[in-house]
Amino acid sequence: MNNVTIAIQVDSPIGTISPRLYGHFAEHLGRCCYDGLWVGADCDAMPHENGVRADVLEALAAMPVPMLRWPGGCYADHYHWRDGVGPSESRPVRLGLSCGLQVQDDNSLGTDEFLTFCARIGAEPYLAGNMGSGTPQELCDWVEYCNSAVDTTLARERAANGAEKPYGVKLWGVGNENWGCGGNYDAETYAKEYIRYATMLQHVAPDIEMVACGQEDEWNKTLVKILKRIPSLVQHISIHQYWLKGGPETGFSDEQYYALIAEAAATEEFITRTEKIIRAEFGEDHKVGVALDEWGVWHPEARFWGDQGGATPREPITYEQAGTLRDALAAAVALEGFHRQCNILTLANLAQIVNVLHAPVMTEGARMWVTPTYHVLRMHAPHIGAQALPVEVQSPVTTPDGAPAVSATASRAANGSLAITLVNRHLSESATIVLPGLSNAAVPSAQILTANDPRAANGPETPNSIVPAPHAVEGDAESGWRIILPPHSVLSAVFSAE
Ligand code: AHR
Repeated sequence: MNNVTIAIQVDSPIGTISPRLYGHFAEHLGRCCYDGLWVGADCDAMPHENGVRADVLEALAAMPVPMLRWPGGCYADHYHWRDGVGPSESRPVRLGLSCGLQVQDDNSLGTDEFLTFCARIGAEPYLAGNMGSGTPQELCDWVEYCNSAVDTTLARERAANGAEKPYGVKLWGVGNENWGCGGNYDAETYAKEYIRYATMLQHVAPDIEMVACGQEDEWNKTLVKILKRIPSLVQHISIHQYWLKGGPETGFSDEQYYALIAEAAATEEFITRTEKIIRAEFGEDHKVGVALDEWGVWHPEARFWGDQGGATPREPITYEQAGTLRDALAAAVALEGFHRQCNILTLANLAQIVNVLHAPVMTEGARMWVTPTYHVLRMHAPHIGAQALPVEVQSPVTTPDGAPAVSATASRAANGSLAITLVNRHLSESATIVLPGLSNAAVPSAQILTANDPRAANGPETPNSIVPAPHAVEGDAESGWRIILPPHSVLSAVFSAE
């Protein structure tokens, strides 16, 4: 019998699971922004609300989306914000450039449309500024346009475009992947340039939080060595983590299944390693967070740069991929690490929000469906804003790479209710979960997400083949709870306080 025992330390919380750990990323890339999210204010072919697809808006509002980063990605370092404000018909049509694509970009989705959409779905906006082809003054002007309460020409322009009150955008990225697409800087040059940008931006808006572009360890070490000269100029250092080793999107082997899950789990180590590098320069009590600006699975079919892991890129490249149950399990495993690291990880954005890469929402013409990852995120909603709790899992069964087959995360909300999410990573073994009575717990409600095969996905013809279902939790608050967890499944249970 595979009995898995879970112990939760309810009285020693790790910290708060910030809503920013459940952020998303919308780039002007492929069909993420244009077509997926934005159909245009004049669109007759599709129901929309002020240009945003109505069905997508409804799905995202329900997920939820506490934070949204925009407009890139690599697109950010080509983006000139002035192209996207004012009357739509007079906006210039530019080359939309990101990740090797060149498309016509009419700029109809600009700053005001994006920020209005964020307010509509309750997302905190996070704007990624242009360092690669911009100037400090251009970025200062964007901040002033968005945030200035002083009656300036830019603030008046904002009011004329519909926003009398400042938007108050807190989070600002200074470039994106500037070690690559954002200008091919070396770490030292970027760090010095960052200081110039950040100094000027802080004059315009002393209360904003700025995100410096990080990368791997060597870049990060050089970066923080230089940035520590003026610690107040940096609030977050960004890293990106794409999982690349899991083979094809649907036709993966068992070995590749486990490789992807292991890669997702290793994201936590990248976060702790990055924080250690920050701490080494900024000291024990530093206030600089790790910003996981982009995370998720990137299958070879959706890659531009060639065959890796037994699948060839699709032509033409769309950056779209099937979102299987495996991808959703990997996301759940990564979220466990985010909760454990909630004191050092200050934000995290799944890449990307619609159609592109690890998307929770997909569209095709008038059809829309949500992926298993969407359901996993929704099942995690009770953790958002709650206190992460330490969890110890005794799992006698392991995966072939030696990891415990079952992993878990738990949190306590302000109203006293306790949320637990469990992942059975094993491909063939089910597990019996044994939970303590949790003295204050009333009868829990639980939902499970699974399928016969982790290769299963939803699609335009079968939008509901994988959906969460209610799941039995046996026992009581005195003798404890038992849950049968089938292979390759995620379960979320909420024990409401008495
Ligand atoms: O998300 C796709 C791309 O991945 C982004 O534009 C870039 O930041 C990263 O390389």
